[in-house]
Amino acid sequence: MDNRAHRKGNCMIDRTVTGHELVLEPHDTIQSRTDARGVITFANPTFARISGYSRDELVGAPHSIVRHPGMPRGVFYAMWQTIQSGEEFFGFVLNRCKNGDSYWVFARVAPHRNPRGEIDAYSSVRIMPKREAVAAWAAVYERVLAVEQALPRDKQVAAGYAAILEHVRKSRAKSLRELAMRYV
Ligand SMILES: Cc1cc2nc3c(=O)[nH]c(=O)nc-3n(C[C@H](O)[C@H](O)[C@H](O)COP(=O)(O)O)c2cc1C
Repeated sequence: MDNRAHRKGNCMIDRTVTGHELVLEPHDTIQSRTDARGVITFANPTFARISGYSRDELVGAPHSIVRHPGMPRGVFYAMWQTIQSGEEFFGFVLNRCKNGDSYWVFARVAPHRNPRGEIDAYSSVRIMPKREAVAAWAAVYERVLAVEQALPRDKQVAAGYAAILEHVRKSRAKSLRELAMRYV
């Protein structure tokens, strides 16, 4: 077991992992909504069932409650850049269940605006990814994570993001979104 735990906000987030993967079924749709800072305001029953957290535990927690230590920081930087600029983000994400198991999803994260036109919420829908997508993105994330982990913490996000963009370029895709869509 990788034994790491991080304190975030008021809640202690456990980051230990078991190495066991829970594979989503084709009909599973995980839905959540957050405020502008990424604090969960709604979680559907499927999110609770798959993640192993109760809906009460999820609502009010930062969305990073399901963050898996195998995910590069640069991916979340790309996600936040995209949604804060008013665009939808599409990508593959490895998440962590409450008991340390993991599950892969294909995620769509969208921004929502209030009547004044300001982004005040985000929503996400996650479905079962194809297995070939999981294999491909797991390999990419492993490489990006190695780039990040070779550096001090303050350099990791920029280097991880640059490594992702380099992968997009080498794959001859116009954007991370276009590359992700190739696997859908
Ligand atoms: C609507 C929405 C959905 C998100 N879904 C996930 C998710 O499924 N898994 C995840 O690790 N982060 C998700 N995030 C990103 C987290 O807010 C956070 O940036 C990420 O977990 C990295 O956490 P860290 O900055 O503490 O490392 C989501 C954010 C938003 C706004």
